[in-house]
This record gives sequence, structure tokens and C-alpha cells, in this order.
Amino acid sequence: MWLFGYGSLIWRPDLEYEDSKVGYIKGHVRRFWQSSTDHRGTEEAPGRVVTLIPYEEFSTRFTDHDQHSSDQDDITWGVAYKIPESKVAETKAYLDHREKNGYETQYLDVFQPHSDTPVVEKAIVYIGATDNSEFAGPAPLDQIALQIYSSHGPSGANKDYLLNLAHSLRTVAPTGNDQHIYELEAKVKELMLRDAGSQEAFDFM
Ligand code: BEZ
Repeated sequence: MWLFGYGSLIWRPDLEYEDSKVGYIKGHVRRFWQSSTDHRGTEEAPGRVVTLIPYEEFSTRFTDHDQHSSDQDDITWGVAYKIPESKVAETKAYLDHREKNGYETQYLDVFQPHSDTPVVEKAIVYIGATDNSEFAGPAPLDQIALQIYSSHGPSGANKDYLLNLAHSLRTVAPTGNDQHIYELEAKVKELMLRDAGSQEAFDFM
């Protein structure tokens, strides 16, 4: 079984795997449009994590607030992991538990540039479909950045999820140009600097 990670699985796979390949899936858009009440937020103050929206639905049903949507919006870079046969059942059970907050599975082909032949066929992908109860949907980027900046859950700070995702994407897929992620990263870093500045001013007094 191959598993394709486009979120936390990129930098924290926490799984036993025997091979991995960087690549992209087609026909979906990665957005911070999924609520997280069990990992990076709480019921009272949900965080936001990524999900994939089918491109057709994305472009016809939703208002995208991103000002610089990229020409690569309908491809999503990530990492595919080959799970050893003997670990498949255990891995599925682990992921079903880890990602219980509204995600379902689909099987998608994984590609690399300059070839129409997939490098991995039918990798399992966890997707929070737009009709799941945790789907938060679009919002202005400043609002999403503030929500991510201020949310914490049992798995840690929501901002660490975003910063780790941006950092690992830049490393594994430097040509990926995922503006949604990088703009949110810049906005959250601005908020961190702003608060570090006020803390310094406070320490000075
Ligand atoms: C991931 O690909 O990292 C992932 C995204 C959503 C749910 C589970 C895993």
C-alpha cells in the first residue's frame, strides 16, 4: 500500500515505511479549510488544518480569498510512503484513529514532472470532503492566519503545523509554489513578530 501525505504526514509521518517518493496529485486544491477540534484546536476554539478540494468544486462553488492563486493550484505536492505489507492493517487503524476528525479515504495517482505516467498508482489519500461536519470552508487569509496563530490543541500549536508544513514543502518541493501555504506562513510570522515586539517593549518597561 502506498499512502500519499500532503499535510502533517509530510514532516511527521510517524509510520513504518520501506520507500518514499516526492510527487504530486492532480485535480485537487490544498487549503486550510478543515476545522481541527481534536489535534490543533479544541471544541471551544477550533484550529485549521489542510484538506483537499476537488478542483471542479473549488472553482465553481467557493470564493477563494487568496489574492495570488498560483497556476499550479490544481496540483498538490506531497510525499508518498510505501507501507510494508505486514504493516498495512496496523497503519490503516493508526491513521483512522489519528485522522478521525472528518477525513475519508480516496485512491489517487501520484506524478512527477515531465511524465504522464504515475510514479505511484492509487495511493491512499485522507481527504476532508466539503460535506464533512468539520469542513470550515473559505475565509479571508488574515482571518485564517489569526485563527491558526491563536489555536492550540492536544497535538500542539496550530502555528507549528503551518510552519512545519511550509518549511517541509519548501524543502521537498522547491518548485511547488504553493502560495496559499506561503502567504499564510508570512502572515503568521508577522503576528509572531508583532507579539515578540510588544513582549520586548513590555520587558523593557
Ligand atoms: C496528510 O496527508 O498529511 C493528511 C492530511 C489529512 C489527514 C490525514 C493526513
